[in-house]
Amino acid sequence: MLNPKRVAWLFIFLVIQVVSMLAIPTISAEIIDNGVATGDIDYIIKYGLIMIAIAFFGFASAISAVYLSSTESQAVGAKLREQLFDQILNFTNEEIDQFGTSTLMTRTTSDVLQIQQVLVMALRFLIMDPLRILVAATLAFTREPKLAFVFLIIVPILLFFIVIILRKVNPLFRSIQIKTDRLNRIFREGLTGIRVIRAFNREEYEEERFDEANEDYAQTSIAAHIYMSFLDPLMILLTSATSIMIIWFGAQYISVGEMAVGNLVAFTSYSFNILMGIMMLSMIITMIPRMQVAIERVYQILDAQNQIVDTDRPATLDAYGKEVSLAFNHVDFRYPGAEKLALKDIDFSLKDGEKIAIIGGTGAGKSTLANLILRLYDIESGSIKINGLDIKHVTQHDLREMIGFATQNALLFSGTIRENLKYGNEEATDEELWHALEVAQGADFVSNLSDGLDSRVEQGGANFSGGQRQRLSIARALATDAKILVFDDSFSALDFRTDAQLRKALEPETEDKAVIIIAQRISTVVDADQILVLDKGELAGKGTHEELKASNEVYQEIIESQMKGEDI
Ligand SMILES: Nc1ncnc2c1ncn2[C@@H]1O[C@H](COP(=O)(O)OP(=O)(O)OP(=O)(O)O)[C@@H](O)[C@H]1O
Ligand SMILES: [Mg+2]
Repeated sequence: MLNPKRVAWLFIFLVIQVVSMLAIPTISAEIIDNGVATGDIDYIIKYGLIMIAIAFFGFASAISAVYLSSTESQAVGAKLREQLFDQILNFTNEEIDQFGTSTLMTRTTSDVLQIQQVLVMALRFLIMDPLRILVAATLAFTREPKLAFVFLIIVPILLFFIVIILRKVNPLFRSIQIKTDRLNRIFREGLTGIRVIRAFNREEYEEERFDEANEDYAQTSIAAHIYMSFLDPLMILLTSATSIMIIWFGAQYISVGEMAVGNLVAFTSYSFNILMGIMMLSMIITMIPRMQVAIERVYQILDAQNQIVDTDRPATLDAYGKEVSLAFNHVDFRYPGAEKLALKDIDFSLKDGEKIAIIGGTGAGKSTLANLILRLYDIESGSIKINGLDIKHVTQHDLREMIGFATQNALLFSGTIRENLKYGNEEATDEELWHALEVAQGADFVSNLSDGLDSRVEQGGANFSGGQRQRLSIARALATDAKILVFDDSFSALDFRTDAQLRKALEPETEDKAVIIIAQRISTVVDADQILVLDKGELAGKGTHEELKASNEVYQEIIESQMKGEDI
């Protein structure tokens, strides 16, 4: 995922940075010994200028390295987010149910961010620090082997403290990640559920729940950072101790003429680089497991096998042919992981010009049946055929192009009414959209809006009433010009009159289409060619209104319950 060319450049810049970082003390040592000690001004100026040039190169390389490592890690983050979004869009309902939307969100946002943050550090310090330690140690040992024993004392002490601190801190950081998940979930629920929370007067409860999670998160972060804050003073302490030791022993060597003064200066600087390098390197190394957790969480999504796949050699489905037929043949279906069948032995068929209605109590399996037509889930046994072709043998794209679907919760997207109506058919003209609205009984209220088709739709269609949303979603399905139309409880929020008008307007539109109307109200289904009565996932009856009214118990019960309602 990284760009090898840019990483190669990054490597080069880092090498230059390390070389310049360590060349400067080395040259200083030379200047002190050969220039200052002998009073050779020319020498001082010459090497002083070289030092400035090297410092400049080091500075420029450091900036380039920071630039490259940040842009690279940003690019990786952007790429990951894009892949995640593509993958999630292709998820079947089953996979979305499995993960849950909350964690899909946190993984796409904060886990990717985590990877990005560690990567930006790792790209620089994982390359730079080993190099820095190696070069500094080599220089230190070759220039003054007599002082090298200082490291044998200081480095183990440094490592000892680093290990202790990081062992405390790492589990804390890992739990911070889990606590972020929790905080996000509560926050999200609070946002989306704000109306319910108000209606039930649960603000205080939700606030407490949030405060508790927030406090927990804050305490863990504080604890982690308290431990981390020991690192700085520890470094100061140890580098000072090292300097003192070097000066102490160095002065003795110098006084007996066994060591040059310049080396003392250079050696102090090398030792600082070694200690600093060790500290940064250990920090990065311990950050990697945190990144690994995030990578795992992200790749669980990316590697998830899509359960519903197209066959290798799909049959072609003529979306715009003259005729159309849909058949369920003894279909059994069970939600993933569920014990009971959600639909059992469903058997019916319809063709163009026909209208089938599905009626049944809540939870009977009506929406489930509608989802199966779109192949949002795969069935357990039996078959579903369109134009005689098993829907498993055609591509999902072709299949869904055949179907105009108005979902139960009439979801709209933020944008304009026009954008929403054109969602299933980008080529639809304004005229066609108005016609669809006309049929859906929505033309009146849309033309009364000051901006007509250009009126804004808020997220989820929040600025429209339930009935208006339903009519827009019906119009959206009609605008597709699909051969099979499925209305999942789409008339429920309409008053009886609008419901009747809509069905009447639909008649001439659907002469060459197959129509499935799902409803709870008897009045919505009376004029259907065939009515399916669903009861607890099973087909309790099939026939016209008259037939069912005369002989079907479940249907009679439904009629009765609604008659009572009318009496009131
Ligand atoms: N994603 C899901 N995972 C597991 N079970 C589900 C899922 N969706 C629905 N069910 C179950 O399947 C059954 C049928 O649900 P379905 O949504 O099809 O009912 P429905 O007839 O459309 O009801 P309503 O009239 O209330 O819309 C219910 O018992 C429900 O609990
Ligand atoms: Mg439903």
